[in-house]
Amino acid sequence: MSEMKRYPVDPEFAAKAHIDNAKYLAMYEQSIKDPDAFWGEHGKRLDWFGPYSRVKHTSFDPHNVDIRWFEDGTLNAAYNCLDRHLEQRGDQVAIIWEGDDPSESEKISYRDLHERVCRLANALKAEGVEKGDVVTLYMPMIPEAAVAMLACARLGAVHSVVFGGFSPEALANRIEGAASRLVITSDYSRRGGKVVPLKANVDEALADPAAARYCKKVVVVKRTDDELAWHDHRDLWYHEITVKASIECPAEELNAEDPLFILYTSGSTGKPKGLEHTTGGYLVYASMTHEYVFDYREGDIYWCTADVGWVTGHSYIVYGPLANGATTLMFEGVPSYPDNSRFGRVIEKHRVNQFYTAPTAIRALMQQGEEVLGDADLSSLRLLGSVGEPINPEAWEWYHRVVGQGRCPIVDTWWQTETGGIMITPLPGATATKPGSATRPFFGVQPALVDKQGNELEGAVEGNLVIKDSWPGQSRSIWGDHERFVQTYFSTFKGYYTTGDGARRDEEGYYWITGRVDDVLNVSGHRMGTAEIESALVAHPAVAEAAVVGYPHSVKGQGIYVYVTLQAGFEQSDELMKALRHWVRREIGPIASPDLIQFAPGMPKTRSGKIMRRILRKIAEDDFSSLGDTSTLADPSVVDDLIAKRLNRW
Ligand code: WT7
Repeated sequence: MSEMKRYPVDPEFAAKAHIDNAKYLAMYEQSIKDPDAFWGEHGKRLDWFGPYSRVKHTSFDPHNVDIRWFEDGTLNAAYNCLDRHLEQRGDQVAIIWEGDDPSESEKISYRDLHERVCRLANALKAEGVEKGDVVTLYMPMIPEAAVAMLACARLGAVHSVVFGGFSPEALANRIEGAASRLVITSDYSRRGGKVVPLKANVDEALADPAAARYCKKVVVVKRTDDELAWHDHRDLWYHEITVKASIECPAEELNAEDPLFILYTSGSTGKPKGLEHTTGGYLVYASMTHEYVFDYREGDIYWCTADVGWVTGHSYIVYGPLANGATTLMFEGVPSYPDNSRFGRVIEKHRVNQFYTAPTAIRALMQQGEEVLGDADLSSLRLLGSVGEPINPEAWEWYHRVVGQGRCPIVDTWWQTETGGIMITPLPGATATKPGSATRPFFGVQPALVDKQGNELEGAVEGNLVIKDSWPGQSRSIWGDHERFVQTYFSTFKGYYTTGDGARRDEEGYYWITGRVDDVLNVSGHRMGTAEIESALVAHPAVAEAAVVGYPHSVKGQGIYVYVTLQAGFEQSDELMKALRHWVRREIGPIASPDLIQFAPGMPKTRSGKIMRRILRKIAEDDFSSLGDTSTLADPSVVDDLIAKRLNRW
């Protein structure tokens, strides 16, 4: 059984690593026994304008969820990512940018990055952006995305990055939800040779009065010479407003608990929620995890393939690496363009040492065979990372053998938008790995497994994964809706932070994440609420009722399976199926596009009218041997019809 496989730590790696096993155990113990002393010490990895005297001030009590770290300290995140490095490493490369087109790349030094950030910060200030204002970024993976995040941070403005793959509709909702007064975007984004009209999407989003009510300015980065619709009173060229701006811009002195950013993510109910992260604790945690989990050392070239639209891009392309004075690679493209050897080519071209990607990308490459990376020289690689979804042992082994050439440790990092940084992970010099297991908690993290009633389970068991106490990187609230924050994360299992994931713990205390226990899907590492897709579908005139479930997909991890009951007067057809797919893409974005749509004359419902998703899930999984008791259904015959017309057959 591959689960029994164990890869011990390479003693040579451990000897050079920041943390070996003895150190891990000692530090972990201290972090739990005396979090104030532990984090008080490690908080010093940042430069503070005003020191903190109080370290941890947190409560998970549902009547009073209150999370503060380093609360009386003052600092600035951009200062920590830029200014403090200038003396030592002003000329060192901060960002290596690799374009979608392999002939395009750029190296930006810390000094240059600092200058660009100051210019944009001044330009934003001139447009009236102030501390506390929310600025929405809807950007391609270009250096200006990082510049914009840091420029906001410099001013104490709160950035809200919206993934460039989201639709105008989704963008409008997020602009409105955060009452955002300015958007920074680009004329077009390029991915895999394809062009996405970002600015036109912003125009469409702002045609919605609910969004336009707040957002009065749009700053546009020019990527092409193509014609663009322009609104003189509202639109500004990035290059025009920055070229005339000063390169002197003092970093605002912020409180540790001042918000740094909002990031929208999906839950099991309702609209996406804007998770709020604050400045001090987040940056301490992002930078410390980046250094220790990836064993980042001076001079290393580090590459995380995520998009800045996700939390992984925030913590492990921008804030963590730059706070550590690292060289971080930012990639605009996709693994399959111009061909499937691209990842290998980029690793070779920039002599990448740490490579951090998602299982879905690994599985896509794996399908192309062992030769997929071509003859690329991968000898610079020292460590591999995985993030975003459970990695199946086969993909882990392939990653280890083909990409890591049997030489590189793999860190399978479990965490969430809500956690701000990595929570459960091997440390490469300390932790023997087992393919498929995220292994052990990071410092300060106390995972536990509870049953349905919230009783903590001991030993080797499976249960709901919860966290017992706060860590500095934790989200503090949902923007504008603290009550929802409390409801979602602190009321199911009292006294704990509820992750929404299930996990198993083995005899050695290693954690194996089994996936979401709520109605949240993970499609190619993208998180999506089934409720969101359902509400998009029922907004279509032909749809009376819709139910969305996940099913196992060999590359995406999970695929989106949709059951649709049509309104009277509508006939099922291939055209309608296409139209529904298009509709969801328009309402949410291409990442939410259904893989399979089954027209269902009726849904399996209880007598009280509740859709029995368990049954729909089973049918979508093509596993109806154990449908359980269907006798309580209002009309048990619908199940036979659903089975007969099921779309996913092995
Ligand atoms: C959900 C969080 C982590 C940043 C990117 C995704 C799943 C994440 C792993 C992993 C198994 C994982 C969980 C989690 N997940 N990493 N290493 N092993 N599952 O952040 O969009 O907030 O999604 O992704 O289900 O709850 P996110």
